[in-house]
Amino acid sequence: MATLEAIQYSPGKLKVLDQLQLPHSFQYEVVATCEDAFDCIRSMRVRGAPAIAIVALLGLAVELHNGEYQASTVDDIIAYIDKRLDYLKESRPTAVDLGNSITLLKKLIRGVRETEPESTVDDIVKAYIAGAEEYMNRDLHTNVSIGDNGTNWLRDVVGASKDNTISVLTHCNTGSLATSGHGTALGIIRSLHKDGLLKHAFCTETRPYNQGSRLTAFELVYEGIPSTLITDSMAGALFATQKAEKNIAAVIVGADRVVANGDTANKIGTYQLAVLARYHGLKFIVAAPRTSIDLATAAGSDIHIEERKKEELTQVSGPVVKQDGTVDSNEVVRIATADQRIDVWNPAFDVTPHELIDAIVTEAGVVVKDSEGKFDLARIKSESDVAKA
Ligand code: MRU
Repeated sequence: MATLEAIQYSPGKLKVLDQLQLPHSFQYEVVATCEDAFDCIRSMRVRGAPAIAIVALLGLAVELHNGEYQASTVDDIIAYIDKRLDYLKESRPTAVDLGNSITLLKKLIRGVRETEPESTVDDIVKAYIAGAEEYMNRDLHTNVSIGDNGTNWLRDVVGASKDNTISVLTHCNTGSLATSGHGTALGIIRSLHKDGLLKHAFCTETRPYNQGSRLTAFELVYEGIPSTLITDSMAGALFATQKAEKNIAAVIVGADRVVANGDTANKIGTYQLAVLARYHGLKFIVAAPRTSIDLATAAGSDIHIEERKKEELTQVSGPVVKQDGTVDSNEVVRIATADQRIDVWNPAFDVTPHELIDAIVTEAGVVVKDSEGKFDLARIKSESDVAKA
């Protein structure tokens, strides 16, 4: 079975799957400039912390590959790359992968200038492009490791086994569509399924943007993983009525930013799931690559939460369902779901306090709290290539 690819890249060419059209229509759009990449990220045609960073880096890589820059000295080209990256960084504020990846690439090109004093403009351009490509390739390996680490932790801690299969709930979309492939939280679910440890996966609709019903449900069906869609408001009832029968053991979510004390910004609705998980005795697991860790921010209250336009709550759009129940993807309509004059609060993310998180699963291992209730994220981050670059 072909893997879902949110991002298609070859040197000088970048195409991004328009996630606003999913699951009814598969359309790739060409991203040829940083402006294209910015627009694609801002409008959420690509979304998910790792995918956002990859599209931003590769958008500039394509521009550079196609010679769309003017620089006569190494200092000129470094200043140009910095300016373009600073522009891309403004596309979406909450996910830290974008900022971390930009810092990484800025360091990388400066490293070339320092270690090779004879380096040319062309050398810097080539180093940037190679660095951006390497960033994308590494993300896939990272996700597979997160999947394995999370699965092993669930074997050890909740006793998941072939004779004791478990069910889990996930929120938002953290799969192939949000990353370069496999996914983070959905990567753990994939790995549980592959190893025969998964009884059932539940996914939330994830209002208001419906990443759960449009994207995660689609990925689960596509992969043949036994799964059920619920609205965000059904999670409590699900745990209260089906925990024992379905052996629901954990809520597994992704992250847009995990700060130094472990507080985690993720898709709006994550926090209430963590509260419910604690009440119902379920493990609450954050799956996050180390690129999503932000040690420079001390606590969740310091995270800038993106607020989005009111129409995301007051309108929906989608293809028409015909009389016979089939979907006509050529006829897309926009529908009002509320009085259009109502005031709206639409934060795209919320912060789950570290107290409610049992484990942070990274590609380098699983971090749990010490006897004082503290996560030591500095240790795991310092082993990171990101920190060393
Ligand atoms: O607004 P989105 O769709 O970009 O939000 C995505 C999420 O909150 C994901 O859970 C998070 O980025 C992790 S993706 C591996």
